[in-house]
Amino acid sequence: MVRTIAADLLEHPKVVETRNHIHHSVVKHDHLMRSARYSYHIAPLLGADRRTCVRAAVLHDLDSRLGTLTTHGAIAANIASEIGEPQEVASAIISHMYPFGPRPTTREGWVLVIADKMASLTDLTHFVRGLFNGRSLKVRRRLRESDPFFAEREKRKVCAASFLRCQRIDA
Ligand SMILES: [Fe+2]
Ligand SMILES: [Fe+2]
Repeated sequence: MVRTIAADLLEHPKVVETRNHIHHSVVKHDHLMRSARYSYHIAPLLGADRRTCVRAAVLHDLDSRLGTLTTHGAIAANIASEIGEPQEVASAIISHMYPFGPRPTTREGWVLVIADKMASLTDLTHFVRGLFNGRSLKVRRRLRESDPFFAEREKRKVCAASFLRCQRIDA
């Protein structure tokens, strides 16, 4: 089970805080857990180490907003190393955005590439389905308030908008 393999990681503050972060319009923690569950099932099919795959999946998008599409894997891989994860976990994380970014060099890396894509697709499906009963927008509203990165971005947008308004008035 994912929760048994990654019990310690799930209590780590960097993972816990993702419950308040937005990612693909859903809760980032949900995306990480979906990726971990898919990894758990795909790993034996590709002859990969299940524990490495699951632990890499739980950590693979930490602080992704500090990087770009191609670089955020390296950021999360660094965090994994700092937390004390072995090189195999970090290597799998670095290449999870393939073909955007580096090509995986291990079976575990390939598992995470596939699991992450499947999880992203499921994220989208959940979001669209939730639009019909209002759940998705409710979650989005909550995340807008709880995600410091999102709040900061919104503040910058408001500042930029008011700056432009002032410019127009002055002109
Ligand atoms: Fe990612
Ligand atoms: Fe991801």
